[in-house]
Amino acid sequence: MNTFTFKNGDYVPEIGLGTWLSKPNEVYNAVLAAIKVGYRHFDCAYIYQNETEIGRALRFAIENGLVKREDIFVTSKLWNSDHAPKQVEKAIRKSIFDLQLDYLDLYLIHWPVAFKTGHLYAHSADDLVSPDEFSIEKTWQAMEIIQEKGLAKHIGVSNFNMPKLNRLLTNSRIAPEMLQIELHPYFQQTELIEFCRKNRILVTAYSPLGSHHLIQGKAGLTREAIVKSIAEKHHCTPAQVLLAWGIQRGSIVIPKSVNEKRIRENFNALNVRLDASDFVKLGDLEQNLRISKGLFCVLPGGFYTYEDIWEK
Ligand SMILES: NC(=O)c1ccc[n+]([C@@H]2O[C@H](COP(=O)([O-])OP(=O)(O)OC[C@H]3O[C@@H](n4cnc5c(N)ncnc54)[C@H](OP(=O)(O)O)[C@@H]3O)[C@@H](O)[C@H]2O)c1
Repeated sequence: MNTFTFKNGDYVPEIGLGTWLSKPNEVYNAVLAAIKVGYRHFDCAYIYQNETEIGRALRFAIENGLVKREDIFVTSKLWNSDHAPKQVEKAIRKSIFDLQLDYLDLYLIHWPVAFKTGHLYAHSADDLVSPDEFSIEKTWQAMEIIQEKGLAKHIGVSNFNMPKLNRLLTNSRIAPEMLQIELHPYFQQTELIEFCRKNRILVTAYSPLGSHHLIQGKAGLTREAIVKSIAEKHHCTPAQVLLAWGIQRGSIVIPKSVNEKRIRENFNALNVRLDASDFVKLGDLEQNLRISKGLFCVLPGGFYTYEDIWEK
């Protein structure tokens, strides 16, 4: 298994199974199929509301000798309603319990946006908490404590841009070790990746296939002529081209699938090696097309605007 390395020498496999929108009744089989194919990395989150089923699959795999706990890498994420510093430990303990583990390998702040405790979704501005009340620095201090307690081996953030990362790098005892962001040829974020490389923050690419389901019909990266022609050249599939592109750019990729054939296909992207001319062509697909805009946090009269969330 190819890996990226944290500062302390721990490894994170360069491909993981995404689980957003994997229905509870599908994700159990998906996780077991993935383990059998060779996946050792699972990207989860409290808000995906399927950690219990993932936990059942992980437990089954460990108890039946398919895999050892120390050989898998499991991520979960702190949801927006748990940014109150006193909530952070409760939240990670809930994910650890549901995933039937003793610790997580990685815990991320999911979004730089806070909802009131108990409000899974924000329906109006009243459900939001101001960024001053639960600042990212205050929530991060609680993240540092859960790492020190051994509840998460590594801590990081998701959907943060450079200014917010800089705030944590400047004001924190422990620097974020991972940034999870949307990355695919339509949205390449080259400057942000370079910033992370310089600051020794690993990068995970979410929606590495262009979150197929959201842009189906409109764009559809796997149906791009350039992607298809590169796939033909390398005798592989369009999805494998996209994943190989993500990995060769130095990011971890976490494609989601609940289909056994596609789970295997995605894993086999590890065998695809793109060349410099492929990179030029795929680079030309840039459209600055952000799919996950975080608009569910942007409410009339609320504290967060699109520009605040994605400040440059
Ligand atoms: N941190 C965040 O805010 C955030 C946001 C979004 C996503 N994520 C994480 O990143 C993971 C991946 O992102 P994503 O789910 O948005 O999108 P994605 O992995 O880019 O695409 C998933 C979609 O592509 C389909 N698919 C999978 N393999 C395929 C293949 N080989 N060929 C054609 N279609 C294929 C899947 O359907 P089937 O299941 O039917 O195969 C699904 O509809 C998520 O599951 C989640 O773990 C994190």
